[in-house]
Amino acid sequence: MSLAHDLYFSGRRILVTGAANGFGEAMAGLFYAAGAQLVLADIEEQPLAAVASRYGAAAHVFDQADPASVEDLAKAAGPVDILINNAGVLVAKPLLETSLEEVRRTVDIDFVGALRLIQLIGRGMVERRRGVILSIGSQTAFSGGENRAVYAAAKAAISQLTKSAAVEWGPYGVRVVCLAPGRSLTRMTRQTAKEGQSGDRGLARVPLGRWGTAEEIAKMAMFLVSDAASYMTGETVIADGGYVHG
Ligand SMILES: NC(=O)c1ccc[n+]([C@@H]2O[C@H](COP(=O)([O-])OP(=O)(O)OC[C@H]3O[C@@H](n4cnc5c(N)ncnc54)[C@H](O)[C@@H]3O)[C@@H](O)[C@H]2O)c1
Repeated sequence: MSLAHDLYFSGRRILVTGAANGFGEAMAGLFYAAGAQLVLADIEEQPLAAVASRYGAAAHVFDQADPASVEDLAKAAGPVDILINNAGVLVAKPLLETSLEEVRRTVDIDFVGALRLIQLIGRGMVERRRGVILSIGSQTAFSGGENRAVYAAAKAAISQLTKSAAVEWGPYGVRVVCLAPGRSLTRMTRQTAKEGQSGDRGLARVPLGRWGTAEEIAKMAMFLVSDAASYMTGETVIADGGYVHG
């Protein structure tokens, strides 16, 4: 079996959340080119529709902060072979200035909503005895960071959840993994940089000397959910240009 064959997704049904922008949009393009059948979901209706029509995908508008909406998405998606739990938000603020409402919103979207999707989609995978779940965590889960306290904690929770789900579902042939990107150039980071909440100060700590791109993260995601990574589960892979070691 060749590596190229492992990276082909013909006939696989893949649900990507947060697919209207950034990493999710880049993943949609890669998986489309690799023959996947895509279900794309996001809270932003128009950009989602544009990405979905470009890649012949089904589009589903949902709000990951709303449990009923997450359930609707899981029902609408039907049986999926691969879930990519990518939707997320970053409230970039000093801990002392972060309101309880902002804490709750971050945790509701970045942890609780993601966890709920893992449960709802994972159940069918366990029953069918196959499937892969990838969550997009963050390198900040390991390093922490200025203006990242709540976000980093929510992402750390996803990495921990990944381990336990992998242990429980491994015997059913379901892999659960997590990808922890370092700062990459998407709308999320451009916005916080513009608002002066995170400039290029951290770049000196990146051994590769640059921020990542959405395409680089999408390729890592593709590898992790592919059969090329079939003996990996429970793991969080960091892709951050070496930041955590810098
Ligand atoms: N860009 C980075 O440097 C970086 C680094 C580490 C981790 N991440 C994580 O990667 C993932 C993708 O981020 P990105 O950089 O592509 O950002 P992005 O803002 O470009 O994309 C995030 C997507 O999630 C969607 N979304 C936000 N809230 C939602 C909600 N309540 N319900 C449904 N969809 C919602 C947005 O509409 C958007 O399309 C996020 O989980 C983010 O935390 C990003």
